Amino acid sequence: MIITTARKGVDVLEEKAQQFSLELASRYIRRNEASVQDLLQLYKEDVLVVGKGKVVLYSQDGGEPFFYHPNSAMFRVKQFQKTNYDPLVAAADLSKGMSFLDCTLGLASDSLVAQVVVGETGRVTGLEANQALASIVRQGLRTWQDGGDFMLKAMRRIEVIHAHHKDYLQNLADHSYDVVYFDPMFEQHLSTSTGIKGLKQFACHDDLSNEIIDEAIRVSRSRVVLKDHYESKRFNRYGFQVMKRQHSTFHYGFITISN
Ligand SMILES: C[S@@+](CC[C@H](N)C(=O)[O-])C[C@H]1O[C@@H](n2cnc3c(N)ncnc32)[C@H](O)[C@@H]1O
Repeated sequence: MIITTARKGVDVLEEKAQQFSLELASRYIRRNEASVQDLLQLYKEDVLVVGKGKVVLYSQDGGEPFFYHPNSAMFRVKQFQKTNYDPLVAAADLSKGMSFLDCTLGLASDSLVAQVVVGETGRVTGLEANQALASIVRQGLRTWQDGGDFMLKAMRRIEVIHAHHKDYLQNLADHSYDVVYFDPMFEQHLSTSTGIKGLKQFACHDDLSNEIIDEAIRVSRSRVVLKDHYESKRFNRYGFQVMKRQHSTFHYGFITISN
């Protein structure tokens, strides 16, 4: 991957681009007048463009570019405030003061809903296996400006960690988080959710395993939660109790931890 800036405002953006270059151990290239297409063709690597308001990752293989946006979180939080219901919150039995480990951060919209619910006394940690995605989402959560003070404060509180959840879970103590959550990348996701299309070519597509679920159960104090396609065999395979949602492509399942 190479790192560059938008064409305008290079003086201001260069320092930020250099920081990404250090963090991602990737070369910084002066943009000059080259288009993104020129850079993709010349370097034959992914190109990360640091702009004033947004950081965009372009894949050398084409497809939708990736950048941070809160996806469905703003709408979901508004709905939750009105109805006191959100399917993830219900599946996780989440409330103020709890801790939530999001093992598949993506755009962090689930993490953001969770952070709003657990509030200032709770904590949300998000794990992302792809380092560039982790850096872009961390930066996005720190700098996003729309949506009001309440949402921005929640965004700023989410801790983003670049890690594969298998390794990270193995190194956590027993019962370190109330809830451990998985929303892995599966094909059905991509055809139904336009919001995460940009993730496709960069995301980690590793499947879950008995070992990972066992670790999640060990790490959790309260519930392990899985979001998956309604026809998925994983709910059954790993022993999740499914909360069926009529007319919904995705269901949530949970395993209750008995203490
Ligand atoms: C379907 S998306 C999650 C969307 C997310 N729930 C949201 O609200 O935006 C899955 C994300 O998890 C990441 N991921 C998949 N497997 C992972 C793993 N083993 N460890 C950490 N992150 C993983 C992918 O790279 C991708 O960004």
